[in-house]
Amino acid sequence: MNKSAQTSVPINPLISNRWSPRSFDLDKEVNHDDLLAILEAGRWAPSANNLQPWKFTVGVRGDEVFEKIASTLADFNKLWAPNSSAMILISAEVMKSDGSPIHTALYDAGIAASLMTMEATSRGLHTHQMAGFDRTAMKEAFDLGKNFRHVAVLVIGTLAPADLLTDALKERETAERSRKSLSQISNFH
Ligand SMILES: Cc1cc2nc3c(=O)[nH]c(=O)nc-3n(C[C@H](O)[C@H](O)[C@H](O)COP(=O)(O)O)c2cc1C
Repeated sequence: MNKSAQTSVPINPLISNRWSPRSFDLDKEVNHDDLLAILEAGRWAPSANNLQPWKFTVGVRGDEVFEKIASTLADFNKLWAPNSSAMILISAEVMKSDGSPIHTALYDAGIAASLMTMEATSRGLHTHQMAGFDRTAMKEAFDLGKNFRHVAVLVIGTLAPADLLTDALKERETAERSRKSLSQISNFH
């Protein structure tokens, strides 16, 4: 199954080869060094004023953090995400300690997440981000204080065959990927 993006012009294969599967290999663990490097990639993301307004809370399958993150997921995500090897809760510092807002916090955290997906892809791993989780339950499970907002969960794992999924999930897994055209999203095309 080739899920590489069919781009209108050639782009870096690291970007075109990234996609978000739901079939992850339950027998595979993520290597400690790979996980560290993925976090390091996020650490070196650019951010407004170099504030680095993010926190990455890491759970590895089998540990308590992983179980806690998994327990907050929306039912649909609970169907597949627990088979991944690691989950990273990405939280953004939306307010400084003096109470003033960090307007770019979500943007900055998104860049960090994006770089983490690239690092993971370069290591032959697959990622899938999720915003489908219970925000109240997540806040109770991981309270980083009132200045932080939990933004997304990034799962990391090894791709498994789509056949291992239920029919409904398999249909999504094998569906053609689509995007708006460049002319729809940009004045330059
Ligand atoms: C912030 C964010 C939240 C997402 N939330 C979910 C989710 O809760 N469940 C899910 O199955 N996929 C989720 N996705 C995955 C998107 O559906 C997916 O990235 C999109 O369809 C494009 O597919 P691709 O990543 O394979 O290119 C999310 C992606 C992002 C970036």
